[in-house]
Amino acid sequence: MIKIQVTDKKITDQKTSCYAFLIPEGAPSPADLKACEKLFGVDIGQYLLKHEFTGKLLETFALPVFLKNKMYHVIIVGLGKPEKDKKIDMENYRRAVAHLYKQVAAHKAASFALTIPSVRLFEEDAQDLGQQTTIALQMAAYHFDEYITSKERKAYVVKDGMLCVSAKEKTAMQRGVKDGDIIAQAVNKARRWINLPPVKLTPVELADKARDIAKKTGLKLTVFSEKQITAKGMGGLAAVGAGSDQESKLVILEYHTKKKNAQTIVFVGKGITFDSGGLSLKPPKSMETMKEDMSGAAAVITTMEALAQLKPDVNVIGVTPIAENLPSGKATKPGDIITFYNGKTAEVKNTDAEGRLVLADALSYVAKQYKPDAIIDIATLTGACAYALGPFFTGLMSQDDELVDEIEGAAERTGDRVWRLPLHDDYKKAVQSSVADLCNIGSPKYMAGTITAAHFLKAFVGDTPWAHLDIAGTAFDVPDMPYFRTGATGAGVRLLIDLAMNW
Ligand code: BES
Ligand code: MN
Ligand code: ZN
Repeated sequence: MIKIQVTDKKITDQKTSCYAFLIPEGAPSPADLKACEKLFGVDIGQYLLKHEFTGKLLETFALPVFLKNKMYHVIIVGLGKPEKDKKIDMENYRRAVAHLYKQVAAHKAASFALTIPSVRLFEEDAQDLGQQTTIALQMAAYHFDEYITSKERKAYVVKDGMLCVSAKEKTAMQRGVKDGDIIAQAVNKARRWINLPPVKLTPVELADKARDIAKKTGLKLTVFSEKQITAKGMGGLAAVGAGSDQESKLVILEYHTKKKNAQTIVFVGKGITFDSGGLSLKPPKSMETMKEDMSGAAAVITTMEALAQLKPDVNVIGVTPIAENLPSGKATKPGDIITFYNGKTAEVKNTDAEGRLVLADALSYVAKQYKPDAIIDIATLTGACAYALGPFFTGLMSQDDELVDEIEGAAERTGDRVWRLPLHDDYKKAVQSSVADLCNIGSPKYMAGTITAAHFLKAFVGDTPWAHLDIAGTAFDVPDMPYFRTGATGAGVRLLIDLAMNW
């Protein structure tokens, strides 16, 4: 993580070798840039003109300056055209900030000072602007290179960032940076866990990480062992972990607000630390990235850590069923029928549709034990979702329009985007079985594998308002986004944190 600070002093008073600016398309040069011109004795405005720099989104200009035996850089990134209401779109801003970070790192500057554009250019206030700037910088700075031993191939690490703002905005901006750091830390921690090889992040290891967080934050922790999982009748979770030598776990983290009569919401995250498909074995190509199949659980656990620090006015329960899906002599077989925590039964036709089996137990457990005001589950559930929506939108399914509004609001604010698919009752019969209550794969004539999977889950939430997030497309290897790299994205972390903070 970069050490980010805020100052109301001039950018040229900062001790740094890199001066950075974000300029909207067609806008006049900011005063701080003029100060830089004076400091270096170069007419940067003329350089920009000669390079036909106009400030288009992500347009980049970098000027090296050699002065008194030291190397300096002036880096300018375009923010694009303001929208119709003359405001800069926050998602464009996040991308420009992240892109700018990557330019700073590419020029091997150990630190940078960045003039933050006037808050008047945004719909958001100074605190939001500080928070979003920080999240974009920290997400752009994250890289997973702990297993790369060659020094040249390691990512360059920028240590310090100074955000230059007006005196009026300084305190609000500082508050934003503080929260932004907490949120970014959660996002990047989730990304690291997901990126870790499955041999390093087994169900026991992931449960231990939740234990560490509980110890550090004081969150209440409950961990069910495999024995307890079976004893409680969680036949779905038990069946999925049956083929593996690794012990399955169900982990619960609880945050309780001091506010009286507060509501309770539950986040449930799929935690398959590796999904081979089980006896319905996946082809090798599809298995290559299946360490990502615990992305939902990672999002929920790291969200809980962030909430312990941000302290929303709502009780939040984070639940993660964790297992490894492998074939073996003990593995669950196609044709097996299992019984879940709530007594319902399912025929397992395909052991690769395992996510819904572990979620079914977790959902019915929290619906009964906590009687929450809402449940939101998050899971890398169906390849079909990645085909339908691609890598840029998480699939959102719910029959509760109010809850959908809340989630769409959080998505809009954070840039952790969602797209609603119709969870209509017409699709419900797709997951009926002729020999059990449910079948774990949809009947082919209904197609829509993402929606039919959601209908399977719906059978386990009772009357509780519930929404399902399918992050199969958004959790891993998202192209073209300046604040991501290859590997995990931390999809859902910003969304869930925002949802709790604005509940
Ligand atoms: N974990 C996978 C879904 C997935 C696919 C996540 C690609 C991320 C990227 C899930 O357990 C799975 O295998 N789903 C099956 C369901 C099918 C058997 C009904 C799928 O999508 O093929
Ligand atoms: Mn699977
Ligand atoms: Zn899976």
